[in-house]
Amino acid sequence: MSDRLHDEIRRRRTFAIISHPDAGKTTLTEKLLLYGGAIHLAGSVKARRAQRHATSDWMAMEQERGISVTSSVLHFDYDGFRVNLLDTPGHQDFSEDTYRTLVAADAAVMLLDNRKGVEEQTRKLFEVCKLRRTPVFTLVNKCDRPGEDPFQLLDDVERDLGVSCYPITWPITDAGRFLGVYDRVRDRILLFESSGDHGASQVRTRELGLADPETDELLGPSVAERLREEIELLDVAGTDFDREGVSEGRVSPTFFGSALTNFGIEPFLHSFLELAPAPPPREARPEPIAPERGSFTGFVFKIQANLDPKHRDRIAFLRVCSGRFEAGLQVKNHRSGDTVRLSQPQSFIARDRQAVEEAWPGDVVGIHDRGALRIGDTLYHGDPVEYGGIPRFSPEHFAKVGVEDPLRRKHLDNGLRQLSEEGAAQVFYAESIAGPAPMVGAVGPLQFDVLLHRLEHEYGVRARLERLPYTSARWVEGPEREIARVAAGYDRTLVEDSKGQPLILFQTEWSLQRTIEKERDVLHFHSAAP
Ligand code: G4P
Repeated sequence: MSDRLHDEIRRRRTFAIISHPDAGKTTLTEKLLLYGGAIHLAGSVKARRAQRHATSDWMAMEQERGISVTSSVLHFDYDGFRVNLLDTPGHQDFSEDTYRTLVAADAAVMLLDNRKGVEEQTRKLFEVCKLRRTPVFTLVNKCDRPGEDPFQLLDDVERDLGVSCYPITWPITDAGRFLGVYDRVRDRILLFESSGDHGASQVRTRELGLADPETDELLGPSVAERLREEIELLDVAGTDFDREGVSEGRVSPTFFGSALTNFGIEPFLHSFLELAPAPPPREARPEPIAPERGSFTGFVFKIQANLDPKHRDRIAFLRVCSGRFEAGLQVKNHRSGDTVRLSQPQSFIARDRQAVEEAWPGDVVGIHDRGALRIGDTLYHGDPVEYGGIPRFSPEHFAKVGVEDPLRRKHLDNGLRQLSEEGAAQVFYAESIAGPAPMVGAVGPLQFDVLLHRLEHEYGVRARLERLPYTSARWVEGPEREIARVAAGYDRTLVEDSKGQPLILFQTEWSLQRTIEKERDVLHFHSAAP
């Protein structure tokens, strides 16, 4: 293996932020870029506002600029590391892409609002990380204003998510004012000095030891005493720091900070980069692939469509898993057996695209695709390899699809097939007297608007959606007779996915859970396609 490959792998950190809308993901992303030197803050606050507006208004944006605004990938350098931040769509554009992005990440940062703790979208995303045993780091944000007691907050997180939190930094506050953090690993108190420019520049800190007499002077005796007591409590009652637990996703290193004022962000970034894994080996057939494998391999985890609707031009996001990626390389697509030329590869900084000549394991590159690639495709050079593929996640919104003009039914089927292959929505079929009736499922409801829009503009089909009352779906395995019996209940229905695998859709979570419990000796239920 070349030294260069080894060095590039060792310094790569590829992660995603998981959070509920409003926890501060946009602000944190911006601050990470600030510390990474990738942006100067002057214009970026405005850009952020514009971006937030844009993501909540997909259609207008799409029409105006002819592109779809879904997740992007950012990279920056910090302290010798090359950091790849995979942006997970949140807000209303929460979709399957949000989940798929996690499959391409080697770690996740769970960002929590200090008043709200774990919220719904965080929980769903955390579950995906847990399933994949992705290391999760916790950052409690907005500590510049009073929030829940940190002991209570972490207790709630642990109980809710079944993970053990290990505070690496601990907040120091005085009557609701955020003064600094104590770094337990380095045994340093970091006191923040406000720059007075509302977080537009990096924050200056002053370092002290916990036992320093100066600490009492600077913090005041009561704050210093409380801090020492709290740290003692953590040391005595808390778990030991378990690096293996972190890499298996059982222990979450935890930090406190404020993305708005930058307080605590640098100590977080510093420890995070040190503790987060470099690209690990990945499950594949015939055997797991180490990133150090000399020849290139990677997989497609996202396809961004209709950069130009007339040409069905798309960008496939490729996660490099091993070897060196070179522009123009001829590789094989394992699924289709086709040879693919990796032409015009691009990397992304915010919304700007740049041509890339080479990339390394952990990096994400966008490649032009004219319809040959699908989500989950493995591309390789050298000996054949196939990565595990990207699971289809259970949708939570369902609708029946109809066409206004019955003569367009073929176009509808064709459009639905292509859009589902691309991962824009999931398509199911229910038995009806007139033959299989198409149905679509989505993780976020905005996917439906996007689907209708694209069916009309790309496939010339004006479709109608009729929302259905189901809220969850499970792929089901077992004897056909038993599946039919269980699916006959009044608040559920049986459908098939595009590969003919059966699913049962349920109206309520309660009914779903009860059924799983009751039928567990007969049927197996899966929340992602088996
Ligand atoms: P999101 O991407 O996770 O949805 O969150 P975003 O960064 O857009 O932040 C949501 C709101 O929370 C914003 O306020 C933002 O300024 C605020 N915020 C983010 N980090 C912090 C923090 O560390 N402390 C405090 N106090 N607030 C924080 P907004 O009023 O909705 O928008 P804006 O007018 O400030 O842009």
